[in-house]
Amino acid sequence: MKRAELVLDRDYAIGAINPRLYGSFIEHLGRAVYGGIYEPEHPLADGFGFRRDVIELVKRLRIPIIRYPGGNFVSGFNWEDSVGPREERPRRLDLAWFTTETNEVGLHEFAQWAGEVGSQIMYAVNLGTRDEDAARNIVEYANHPGGSYFSDMRIRNGAKEPFGIKLWCLGNEMDAPWQMGHKSAYEYGCRAREAAKMMRWVDPGIELVACGSSSPDMPTFGAWEYTMLTECYDQVDHVSLHRYYGNPTHDTASFLARNMEMDVFIKAVVSICDAVGATKRSSKKLGLSFDEWNVWYHSSEQDEEIKKKARWDRALPLLEDIYNFEDALLVGLMLITFLRNADRVKIACMAQLVNVIAPIMTCNGGGAWAQTIYWPLLHASTYGRGTALRPAIKSPVYDCADREGVPLLDAAATLNDEGDVTIFAVNRSLTDDLLLACDTRGFGDLAVEEHIVLHHDDVNAVNTESAPNEVAPRAGERGVMDAGRLEIALQPLSWNVIRM
Ligand code: AHR
Repeated sequence: MKRAELVLDRDYAIGAINPRLYGSFIEHLGRAVYGGIYEPEHPLADGFGFRRDVIELVKRLRIPIIRYPGGNFVSGFNWEDSVGPREERPRRLDLAWFTTETNEVGLHEFAQWAGEVGSQIMYAVNLGTRDEDAARNIVEYANHPGGSYFSDMRIRNGAKEPFGIKLWCLGNEMDAPWQMGHKSAYEYGCRAREAAKMMRWVDPGIELVACGSSSPDMPTFGAWEYTMLTECYDQVDHVSLHRYYGNPTHDTASFLARNMEMDVFIKAVVSICDAVGATKRSSKKLGLSFDEWNVWYHSSEQDEEIKKKARWDRALPLLEDIYNFEDALLVGLMLITFLRNADRVKIACMAQLVNVIAPIMTCNGGGAWAQTIYWPLLHASTYGRGTALRPAIKSPVYDCADREGVPLLDAAATLNDEGDVTIFAVNRSLTDDLLLACDTRGFGDLAVEEHIVLHHDDVNAVNTESAPNEVAPRAGERGVMDAGRLEIALQPLSWNVIRM
């Protein structure tokens, strides 16, 4: 059996893990809201029309923040449409997804739902078709206690207490030509600076995220970050990163190495942020907000057909990727990457949460179930809290179509406030067990409390409404711990959580 080595020590800390690393995202897109979280006709709907079965699945994930209301959608959205008496709210053409938005669910309803699932809202303002005026007004509406035009409007609309939204995105993917109101880096940087300034004047307690590139593949990547941050560095707290991966060629070995690119992407953005900071002689360090990440490709062809046939319909079944087992492995590897960059990645939002490229699926009028990717997110969010440890890894490697020297073992480790050490590990081998030899002597007397394994013999296995547990975690062998040295076998193609 091949052997990989891992050394952990409490003194090798990367940094505190911001709980916001386990964030998520709900956009007014497809069946995320209508038919996802909200379905008043459903037998399990609560008094507000929200599905209780979905609420239960979301709650288990312990998601601290949910980005809302978009995405591409937000770049044509008037926040005023989404508040006030429901029967008076306008139906609008949504030019991001070519559907009709009815505004039945708006800020007040979403805040009610977010409170129910235990999450804070991360609110994105429209800097595409609108400007800093609309941005500062929604902050006044949401966060000002009362006695002003917009805060009193909120009170009249039923919310006496402010929503207290702390985290705000300054637009979405403004570098992208597909975005309504797409801008050059300089134009966006100036607009973000003015919006940030005015929003913070309304509420000095807020945190602001500037739009980085919509993907590292964009031709403007790098220059976009540098130019726009030159304009707004002092006014913002975080910069966004977005990245989705796919495996259209069914090359699992290459697919499972994609998080290595993600690591390079993160380090590149850190360098650019710090370079801008250095030119400004600033002691401030920006956080990274990886506020869209996931696997996304299964639904692409089908979506083109749906859009052709049903343009302007409501709640179309768009971006409904059905995730297979290998997708869950890559999602686990991406979470490992975030943990290993926890000193700079302060926010991460899996895109998205329900039905739309999501860990949770629903059937209208029917069931709700966990997709394969639900499991690594649940494990990381449950056990990956506290301090991220710097794992010293020695692993055998493999070569794949587009990369040489991919380690068979990828791993992250955490130490929580109770002194529990958790290892998250993936064995990327398609065929062989890997013996993980882990030196934990620096922690004294540790014992393995639990080993959770996610594995399936078929990388294409999926969970469905009728077989929701086809891909589900099970208890693994706990390995052998001898005087602080653990030896534990990791199955080929497996996600492992080792709790000590
Ligand atoms: O998450 C789906 C879409 O992907 C978002 O609306 C957009 O921001 C990104 O391009």
